[in-house]
Amino acid sequence: MRVPMIAGNWKMYRTAREAAQTIRTLRGLVGEVTDVDVVVCPPFTALPAALEAASDSRIGIGAQDCHWGKEGAYTGEVAVPMLADLGCSHVIVGHSERRQFFGETDATVDRKIEAVLAHGLTCIGCLGETLQEREAGQTLQVLERQLRGGFARHLHSPRLVIAYEPVWAIGTGRTATPAQAQEAHAFLRGLVAAVADPDVAAAIRILYGGSVKPENIVALMAQPDMDGALVGGASLDPSSFARIVKFRG
Ligand code: 13P
Repeated sequence: MRVPMIAGNWKMYRTAREAAQTIRTLRGLVGEVTDVDVVVCPPFTALPAALEAASDSRIGIGAQDCHWGKEGAYTGEVAVPMLADLGCSHVIVGHSERRQFFGETDATVDRKIEAVLAHGLTCIGCLGETLQEREAGQTLQVLERQLRGGFARHLHSPRLVIAYEPVWAIGTGRTATPAQAQEAHAFLRGLVAAVADPDVAAAIRILYGGSVKPENIVALMAQPDMDGALVGGASLDPSSFARIVKFRG
């Protein structure tokens, strides 16, 4: 049985003080939820405050990116052992905004996933096609290239979570229909079975991301290959995020 995960990606929003306030409110709203893994990923600077606000709760705190090295002369970067030392439990890797604006490639995604897993954290690895790729009928090819290039070596880890985020649905208010999301998720699960094995495919969690809201989470989660969501904008508001976490009603 795959336990659903609802993860919030706060992107470059919220100071440390704001993060602590939001998480304290969120605790009050989702404190009793035990059948969903709840994760919040604030900016690096807010991680200590977020961790303190979430301490002794079931809310996991994660980073939005990392470097693949243990340490080194990489100005501006943050290494996984530093995140582990703070108490972070999760790291998002390969988000489309990192790919689009910061030169993230399948090869760097591969190295980052390896580093996150090697240090015992859970990795939420992102992939997804652009609008241009979808319109050119290349969606499944793109997903296959990204999965084989960035994820293939790590699929056997129970701490790897895949997040399918179609780029055209991120921050646009344009959600993939449940059927479009299901098609991509079923394809990815089939690919995991082929690249790794059917047991790994049955166990791995595949999240959907892209304009997830309280209004569309129920229909998305009704799809058989949907194991949760990576939520951007709606995760900044604790009551919206709590309604998404409580999608079961
Ligand atoms: P939105 O939910 O704001 O569309 O963002 C999705 C996303 O990029 C989560 O990582």
